[in-house]
Amino acid sequence: MRKYFIIDFDSTFTKVEAFDVLADISLSDHPEQEKIKQQIIDITNLGMNGEISFRESLEKRLTLLAPHRNNLPALITLLKSKVSESFKRNKEFFSTYQDSIYIISNGFREFIEPVVIEFGIKPQNILANEFRFDSAGKVIGFDTENPLSANNGKVEQLKRLKLDGDVYVIGDGYTDYEIKHSGLANKFFAFTENVERENIMDKADHITPSLDEFLYLNKLNTAISYPKNRINVLLLENVHPVAIELMRNEGFNVESYPAGLEEDELCEKIKNVSVLGIRSKTQVTAKVLDHANRLMVIGAFCIGTNQIDKKAATKKGIAIFNAPFSNTRSVVELAIAEIIMLMRNIPDKSTKMHKGKWDKSAKGSFEIRGKNLGILGYGNIGAQLSVLAENLGMKVFYYDKEEKLALGNAIKCKSLKELLSIADVITIHIDGRESNTNIIGDEEFKLMKKGVIFLNLSRGHVVDIRALRENIVNGKIAGCGMDVYPYEPLSNDEEFKSDLRGLPNTILTPHIGGSTAEAQENIGNFVPGKMMDYINTGSTSNSVNFPNLTLPTLENAHRLIHIHNNVPGILAKINQVLADHGINIAGQYLKTTDAIGYVITDINKEYDKEVIKKMRAIENTIKFRVLY
Ligand code: NAI
Repeated sequence: MRKYFIIDFDSTFTKVEAFDVLADISLSDHPEQEKIKQQIIDITNLGMNGEISFRESLEKRLTLLAPHRNNLPALITLLKSKVSESFKRNKEFFSTYQDSIYIISNGFREFIEPVVIEFGIKPQNILANEFRFDSAGKVIGFDTENPLSANNGKVEQLKRLKLDGDVYVIGDGYTDYEIKHSGLANKFFAFTENVERENIMDKADHITPSLDEFLYLNKLNTAISYPKNRINVLLLENVHPVAIELMRNEGFNVESYPAGLEEDELCEKIKNVSVLGIRSKTQVTAKVLDHANRLMVIGAFCIGTNQIDKKAATKKGIAIFNAPFSNTRSVVELAIAEIIMLMRNIPDKSTKMHKGKWDKSAKGSFEIRGKNLGILGYGNIGAQLSVLAENLGMKVFYYDKEEKLALGNAIKCKSLKELLSIADVITIHIDGRESNTNIIGDEEFKLMKKGVIFLNLSRGHVVDIRALRENIVNGKIAGCGMDVYPYEPLSNDEEFKSDLRGLPNTILTPHIGGSTAEAQENIGNFVPGKMMDYINTGSTSNSVNFPNLTLPTLENAHRLIHIHNNVPGILAKINQVLADHGINIAGQYLKTTDAIGYVITDINKEYDKEVIKKMRAIENTIKFRVLY
């Protein structure tokens, strides 16, 4: 039986109601714009409640809007930019089924047609009202012969089409449901991507949060493997709203919580979750991961990933992403500020002022210009600091375990010893690996110049606090800035206990180096981007635990994604399966870590289901999925 698809325009094909947008344009210079817009809303409601006829409502609204032909280009441009995300994703559906798709709307052809024909919809399959213009281009009315300009218009219009086959209606409003109610359609799908109307959802045969779901239900999908709205995303610990928005716009079913979840709660919740977003508090333990049978990816909306059992996640084929440099700049700015403050003795001077003591003197105060800055750890933060400090006139020296490109005029030191002995200011930016514990202790302080300024904004355990205290007290260290500590309070209610409290010219901050609004927003943008890239393309660039592969976008091919335990011979087995089925490989990418292998194969031929079964059956397979 042939299938026909009847699609609504306002709030379905596009995210917006065209009349709302038209009002913004045609009334833009009107002094009583807001008042008129409210009148238009009131009239729309009267029409919807049946207190006035549809035609009357249309006439009244057009009189208030007073549109002109000149308003149309701007309206069309705006509507084109507001096409629903899932429609944009599934453009192929419209051209493939163009003979069976009708757009039926109580809106106007003049702005609907330019928007929908770009998707391959045939002009003769667009059924909508038509404006009447006067010779000056002013809208003076509409074609009153058109059934869509009267009550029950969509039903009347559909009757005239006399479609011979199954009719499926997708829309967000009551007039769309009426088509099914009148017996002219087999099914009504309530489209909720843009608006959710309870009374419509109640009446629908299916609720479709996106076109993906509609295509999946009706086995029509070509563009995507699985409807995104069926992919559950759980975001914990109050991640930035921009992250929630990004994931929702992508079509995922997103649930977010302000706090973290305890292990048992998370074990329960994680069962249906495919994407998990956390910050530093949620512990993703092996036990949690045991329950996470649908989980594909974890996003840590922070830098550290110690809260995740990475080994267990890797074993289950779950990719982990974090935000390694979203707050780099924030840390660097604080470091620069502290260097200047400490060189000028500001912490002590400020404290004295608060106690009423005026101590005006230049003694022990220096410019940072021309001083030697020693950076230990020339990674993201160290390197960025190098650039800014040099711009402020400092001479930059650094030491890193790894070979690093010296930026600007920075000079690489051959050893930590060399760095410590040359620097007027020493700042630590190494990572928190275990072997870095107490890397700065008695011996290292001995090597430093007298009167050195010392900063640690990396991890607390890398500095021996007892030795640090002694060297501040004995005057070797003239100023100290600490943001991180071997033990840090678990909440703001817990007292901060430390031997560093009360020491002279010492700035103590509560691990806020990276805590700025900008950094939070950067993280909120960065991590979803990485997770969506992984889901949509298989790309693992910047993954914490997966072999890093940056992949080309998929064009005219299917992509097979195979994750397996890293044992010899798997690639050969994959290719054997493909060869057995006469499948041509368009591109193949392989990378491994000690634990797992990651093989991406792009194939340019229709595959049969047997291939999937065989791929999954290859021994040591952890996860397998197909992208279309
Ligand atoms: P990164 O990983 O880019 O750089 C670390 C660098 O240290 C690497 O180049 C590494 O080779 C080097 N390194 C490690 N151990 C070393 C050693 N023993 N000797 C010499 N070089 C060594 O990390 P990124 O992003 O620059 O962060 C640096 C530190 O800052 C990390 O510990 C991070 O946790 C911390 N951090 C602190 C924040 C805060 O709020 N205070 C915010 C963000 C990061």
